[in-house]
Amino acid sequence: MIKVAPSILSADFRNLEAEIKKVEAAGADLIHIDVMDGHFVPNITIGPLVVRACRRATKLPLDVHLMIENPDRYIPDFAKAGADLITIHAETSKSLDEDIELIRQNNVKPGVVVNPATPVEKIFHVLDKVAMVLVMSVNPGFAGQKFMPEALGKVRKLKDKITNSPHLSVGNYKPPEIEIDGGINLETAKEAVKAGADILVAGSAIFSSKDYAQAIKGLKGQ
Ligand code: DX5
Ligand code: ZN
Repeated sequence: MIKVAPSILSADFRNLEAEIKKVEAAGADLIHIDVMDGHFVPNITIGPLVVRACRRATKLPLDVHLMIENPDRYIPDFAKAGADLITIHAETSKSLDEDIELIRQNNVKPGVVVNPATPVEKIFHVLDKVAMVLVMSVNPGFAGQKFMPEALGKVRKLKDKITNSPHLSVGNYKPPEIEIDGGINLETAKEAVKAGADILVAGSAIFSSKDYAQAIKGLKGQ
């Protein structure tokens, strides 16, 4: 079953609680929270305070996407604020292994993410340590950008690698889920799922629609 993670970056911040409750009732599986610092990406968005407020608004897992420099400095704060998943960029983490370990020590599931310009092979060595791998299908920074089809090849490569690595699903260990983020709409969702994506992040496709339930169902292909 395909999961959908609405990105609250496109929500109406005048009433974030109502927006979160609306997407929850509409069938969202996770709440995607885009954290930007104005350094790693040219935009400033959300900090731990807002993540804590989201925590009080929903029981859904909070999928916190850190687009910040020095993620290690802030991982404990986002964990305390109530993140269920913390995803760090391969481009900004000084040591993926250490940062993943730090996320685990804070009792949060770790994820890793690659920008469009970063080869997906760069994160192959941590596939046995993460719960999720995120492929960016836009350059991070803003909602509402156009999907970059090159991301599909990366999703396929990841899916192949995960399927052909039996050690990733030994015992109770679950292989990482593949998430895709940026420019997801009804058409690109279909292609992403065909390529092997398990979780679709969508901001504008959901929050600019009149009927969130219909938008989420459509993305799930129902
Ligand atoms: C981009 C963010 C995305 C973005 C998605 O930097 O990571 O999560 O908000 O928005 P849409 O779905 O509108 O591309
Ligand atoms: Zn994101």
